[in-house]
Amino acid sequence: MGNDTLLTRALKGIRGERPPVWFMRQAGRYLPEYRAVRERHSMLDVIRTPELAAQVTLQPLERFDLDGAIIFADILNPLIGMGIELDFVEGEGPKIFNPIKSPADIEKLLVPDPQKNTGYTLEAIRQVVSVLRPRGIPLFGFAGAPFTLAWYALGEAGKGGAQGRAIKELIFHQPEAWRLLMDRLVELISSYLIAQAEAGASALQIFDSWVGVCAPSTYKEAVFPAVLEVVTRVRSATDLPIVYFPLGGIGLADSVKQLPVDAVSVDWRVSLSGADSAYGHTFSLQGNLDPALLFCPLDTVRKETSRVLDEGATVKRAHIMNLGHGLLPHTPIEAVAEVVRLVREYRYEGEAAR
Ligand code: CP3
Repeated sequence: MGNDTLLTRALKGIRGERPPVWFMRQAGRYLPEYRAVRERHSMLDVIRTPELAAQVTLQPLERFDLDGAIIFADILNPLIGMGIELDFVEGEGPKIFNPIKSPADIEKLLVPDPQKNTGYTLEAIRQVVSVLRPRGIPLFGFAGAPFTLAWYALGEAGKGGAQGRAIKELIFHQPEAWRLLMDRLVELISSYLIAQAEAGASALQIFDSWVGVCAPSTYKEAVFPAVLEVVTRVRSATDLPIVYFPLGGIGLADSVKQLPVDAVSVDWRVSLSGADSAYGHTFSLQGNLDPALLFCPLDTVRKETSRVLDEGATVKRAHIMNLGHGLLPHTPIEAVAEVVRLVREYRYEGEAAR
């Protein structure tokens, strides 16, 4: 079963003899077998072809003894069915062709049914689960959080982006339009996450990659309510573990700690023990090795991995070993293998072994 594993138990706060390990962006360009698929297919083609998405999802599990997988997709492709045109441009990242410019653009946004909009990802989940269930490996489904999807939909990221001016203008000067945008995104995201749970995912992660640009007061008043609504809706439909990842958002902890999630992902700008205090010891913590450190000599990789593991052992609930953000494109494969090996050998001792 994918629902009672070292990883899903740790997410729910139940510690095993060691922390589970998986990586954000564990399928990706640092793997030659991934690059081989991408040479023949565009990013959107891989996402929209269940067999390819399933194949790429499974690639890192063939190389490393990971305790979990994450379905291959992106936070942005679900926006296409709302009427946002986008593509992933080689070397540049995502490009939005018709960013939202006015409240009228927000009114025009559709809220598509997840099966019609992202049925290809739901089918990829079913295919991956049929391979991973017998191996006892859980699969994460995921979605972007409302603020982060709004950030992209407003054209804030990438060349020509407004660096947060457009989104803050909307929040402060068009509060009704902002709320409408949040409402549409809440509907899109929660129905998509629930559909992923129904397709067989064993855990769900919500990526809030841009929320670190918010002041705590802005987050509390204009952003947090939408995240809370997503989590509440998903919670009422499934008891799968839910992880929230507020990248660069430790300063928002007073609000974040009120979310009914099981775990938060922590970036490397804060220590795991600092994060545990900031969140009031209420969550399992996932993270937080600096992805750039994997480019250092293996001695450093070992030292830093051990440091994170020892700190993770002090977390009140449970620790899930991961990076503080996704694996970077040219990460040496040996460094990834070394982290996995060290985590697998690690054993909790004394007070931490419970
Ligand atoms: O392995 C996994 O983690 C699952 C797949 C996954 C991807 N994107 C694949 C991807 C997941 C969970 C994401 C989430 C995602 N996408 C986030 C949240 C996490 C984070 O990084 O903060 C964000 C902000 C995006 C948007 C996005 N997609 C960006 C900014 C980029 C370009 C930057 C980059 O790394 O190239 C993408 C493209 C993308 N998404 C790639 C992958 C593997 C690279 C595409 C390629 O093959 O060229």
